[in-house]
Amino acid sequence: MKNINLICVVGARPNFMKMAPLLRALQPYPQVNAKLVHTGQHYDDRLSDVFFQELGIKEPDVHLDVGSGKHGAQTARILERFEEVLERARGNGEPCGRVVVVGDVNSTMAAALAAAKLEIPVAHVEAGLRSFDRSMPEEINRIVTDSLSDMLFVSEPSGVENLLREGRREENIHLVGNIMIDTLVRLLPNAKNRDTLARHGLKPGCYGVVTLHRPSNVDKPEKLALVLEVLAETSRRMPLVFPIHPRTRGRIEQFGLLQLLDAAKGIALLPPLGYLDFLALTSQARVIVTDSGGLQEESTMLGVPCLTLRPNTERPITVREGTSTLVGEDPAMLRNCLNSILDGSYKRGSPPPLWDGRAAERIAAILSR
Ligand code: UD1
Repeated sequence: MKNINLICVVGARPNFMKMAPLLRALQPYPQVNAKLVHTGQHYDDRLSDVFFQELGIKEPDVHLDVGSGKHGAQTARILERFEEVLERARGNGEPCGRVVVVGDVNSTMAAALAAAKLEIPVAHVEAGLRSFDRSMPEEINRIVTDSLSDMLFVSEPSGVENLLREGRREENIHLVGNIMIDTLVRLLPNAKNRDTLARHGLKPGCYGVVTLHRPSNVDKPEKLALVLEVLAETSRRMPLVFPIHPRTRGRIEQFGLLQLLDAAKGIALLPPLGYLDFLALTSQARVIVTDSGGLQEESTMLGVPCLTLRPNTERPITVREGTSTLVGEDPAMLRNCLNSILDGSYKRGSPPPLWDGRAAERIAAILSR
């Protein structure tokens, strides 16, 4: 008898690699009925569909088709449409036992809020992370989502400390490890078998991977120009591949910065890549230069140096135990770190405890109680 009804919500690219292992881990529990809702925050094939295929995620039971928009508008559309889904289900006599959200995107927060208003309990996977920087939209999303959730699944010890400091009860907090790493562990052999490097004319250990999409780095012309100049300089020493997020491409074009990248012969601009091609590139890179949160964790797991173009991180373990260094937007620091990577003196990291490919199993065991 299926008496535990979960409504699992995804919306944007970084959600998919977190939800995939959870849906898989819930399958053996006969008492669990897990429905999947896609908000449609990301809708491009390259930001969404390819991940469903490569990660083997089932078709969503419901698609909210919210699309892009300002934060308020996008959040409001998710709230309105997800609330309708929950109310309709209730009206049809389908119990909505618990909503499960992952990560820190607008879809995460909006779905948690809609559920909480209807008194449906919320579980948050990747709870407790804090950058203490409220200019980041994700920080607001994390704070709101955690405050509405009664099951808090945490990936690293700092998350537990943050939640306890915020007055959360210990019995609601579960240190389960990093669920995104579950996907990495499962698919790494597959990714390494691909011909991705050959297709891009790259040799293992001899190139860098760049990603950039945070509003704080790409929304202001002067700041974006500074970052791109640093990358152009770096590319004279080592080829760089730069799979480019649509918002970043839009900004580069809007600010007239495309010629700066075109002139840098060592930078190959690529469209956004699927999970497997991207993992093939990151796992064999000499260095990753990024402003992504998830990549700081993946690089730590892969043992690949990661220079993070941010002044702070909500994932401090990736700096303390892992391979990430916060270089802010300081070209001198980036240059120094690159030197130490190229001459082999850069720090080595190790994967944190519980980043073992089994986080989803631990979460599923708790959710199915
Ligand atoms: C979102 C998340 C961010 C995450 C990132 C990963 C929030 C606040 N931010 O940022 O935490 O790291 O996803 O990619 O939720 N666009 C497309 N195609 C799409 C979706 C978006 O072209 O399928 C373009 C649109 O111009 C859109 C812009 O990207 O306006 C921004 O999309 P949005 O989902 O609002 O935020 P991201 O920057 O993707």
